[in-house]
Amino acid sequence: MKNFWLKLKKPIYALAPMAGITDSAFRQICKDFGADVVYSEMASVTALTYNPGKTLEMLKFSPKERPYVVQVFGSNPEHFAKAVKLVEKKIKPDGIDINFGCPVPKVSRQKAGAELFKDLKLSRQVLKTVTLNTSLPVSIKTRARVGSVDILEFLKNVSDLDIKAIMIHGRSFSQGFSGSIDWQIIKKSREYFSGIILANGGVGLNLTPNPSPRQERGVKDYCDWLLNKTGADGVGVGQGALGRPWIFGELKAKSEKGKTKEEIFNIILKHTKLVCKLKGRQGIIEMRKHLCWYVQGLSGARKLREKLVKIESLDDINKILK
Ligand SMILES: Cc1cc2nc3c(=O)[nH]c(=O)nc-3n(C[C@H](O)[C@H](O)[C@H](O)COP(=O)(O)O)c2cc1C
Repeated sequence: MKNFWLKLKKPIYALAPMAGITDSAFRQICKDFGADVVYSEMASVTALTYNPGKTLEMLKFSPKERPYVVQVFGSNPEHFAKAVKLVEKKIKPDGIDINFGCPVPKVSRQKAGAELFKDLKLSRQVLKTVTLNTSLPVSIKTRARVGSVDILEFLKNVSDLDIKAIMIHGRSFSQGFSGSIDWQIIKKSREYFSGIILANGGVGLNLTPNPSPRQERGVKDYCDWLLNKTGADGVGVGQGALGRPWIFGELKAKSEKGKTKEEIFNIILKHTKLVCKLKGRQGIIEMRKHLCWYVQGLSGARKLREKLVKIESLDDINKILK
């Protein structure tokens, strides 16, 4: 088995999986700016078992995205077995990741994501099944805590299984996607897991250890602080990459340099052209939310946003940005 995780230079800067966002176009843009590893949107193992066409289409990727990790979610071990075999054969990613952190009702209702994390017996069964049914390196994405189960108990329960990497979202289930993270528990996870640990939560969101006014320099400061405090091998960047895919370059650079309006417009055009090529008109519709994130904070953003949410074609964007 090729374990790409061991070949990555540390600290590792990963684009965290985000449903509805981390499609191939966005992953490619983030890769261009220096993301070391990118994750797919989460894919249902049940859909991959019974009706895989659309999901396989969603998981396609360009070789330039490598290393590329496909994330799957579900709760039925048999579906996991079938799905990971299919993904390995048809998609050929570099790794398989299992979602143990998603809190949304659609996923919880299936006892998947964060709900699965809470069920130590079933989560172990799922993980074991996946490791036995793929030759790809298996990683997991979890929360710091869900209900009465924390990441330490979770890791203890699967310590004998072949897991190569873990991205720990340092917020509890009840915190959702905002607020401060529990860096202590991420640090302590090292005692229970010897693979790659990525700390996740707040990078680029201007969360500072001691709340302070927004400063551009804060992005790198927070990330360095997170790496330092947790002793993690890298970080996962989620919301901080929205409208700011160049964050990966900023995090890796010695000093951060913001983008000019012209540079941002060029990135928007490149991103939109790619989305258009890969998804056609549907891609343009999906691009609208990215456009709003891109122009956030620019002068005249409100007026721009009003126009950008109505775009129907690449031509529309060209005209607006001109
Ligand atoms: C819109 C959105 C979609 C997400 N989709 C997924 C997903 O498909 N799989 C997953 O494991 N986490 C998902 N997450 C969680 C992120 O990967 C990440 O753990 C979370 O946003 C915290 O990191 P951040 O503070 O850097 O954003 C999603 C988050 C957001 C905001």
